[in-house]
Amino acid sequence: MVSAAGETRAVHARAPGKINVFLKVGALVDDGYHDLATAYQAVSLYEDVRAWHADDFSVTFGGPIDTSALTVDGSNLAIKAARMLARRTGYRRGVRLHIDKHVPIAGGMGGGSADAAATLIACDELWGTDLPREDLLALAARLGSDVPFAMVGGTAIGSGRGDRLSPALAKGTFQWVLAIAEFGMSTPTVYSELDRHRERHAQDIFFAKTQPSVETNVLQALRAGDPHMLAEALHNDLQAPALHIAPGLGAVLELGEENGALAGIISGSGPTVAFLAPDLDGALELQIALSAARLNVVRATGPVHGARLVNEH
Ligand code: C5P
Repeated sequence: MVSAAGETRAVHARAPGKINVFLKVGALVDDGYHDLATAYQAVSLYEDVRAWHADDFSVTFGGPIDTSALTVDGSNLAIKAARMLARRTGYRRGVRLHIDKHVPIAGGMGGGSADAAATLIACDELWGTDLPREDLLALAARLGSDVPFAMVGGTAIGSGRGDRLSPALAKGTFQWVLAIAEFGMSTPTVYSELDRHRERHAQDIFFAKTQPSVETNVLQALRAGDPHMLAEALHNDLQAPALHIAPGLGAVLELGEENGALAGIISGSGPTVAFLAPDLDGALELQIALSAARLNVVRATGPVHGARLVNEH
């Protein structure tokens, strides 16, 4: 995109983080992934990706969170996304990316997935490659299980690895307060902990090998837009293994529930703890109480839109 003055302007795309309001993990499949049934909600913490024409591929980071631990080479998911789109479309040059991050890193909220989704949209626009949406979604699924949802946003049911999406009816806006940990957690480590736990307790716990499904009370709560119903229905199979790895998160969950949260849940594979508040006032009170306890907290609402271009004018 070249302006009248001749300088190159950035293409800007934005994608949201997510909370899994329901996540049931089924069997470990031969490909190393688990069958899932999840209900995703996109929330108003966004990754802002700006893309400029360049001969090679590079990425820099900014925004309010510490990004010093992120890689900026070919192992970064945004670079992988750009390279994959270039390969798929035969585009021969590269891109310079800058990402302002607002979603916690390795926090279980799909920040890296949102980077990849926004990068696909931004590069497709910058390069004029104009790939059909279903092809972009297919690339997204190859980049990571949560990337298709970052593209689609809103409220959706995920099956397979979480990448096979169907829309869910949702009404209203839910108020969340997120307690962000000072450390990140590796998704494969949390899944392995779950597998180990299931092996250890194979005698005592019944674990169905069939494809899991999202319970109807979750769908009803989302459809009604009722936070009290949703609080009753929140569920995450990754919560127990995440708490086993990081037991301190148990006290965070208790603190939120003592201070007006309807319920708290570990987001995805953690360690972010998501609290559902009854309304905006409740969310503000909870935010103050948790901040007073020296937790790093942000407020977010959901559902919000998926990855899209932002017109800066
Ligand atoms: O797809 P993604 O790269 O986000 O997955 C990261 C890791 O999380 C996988 O390598 C796998 O260990 C685990 N995972 C899983 N089952 C899923 C999704 C992720 O075991 N459905």
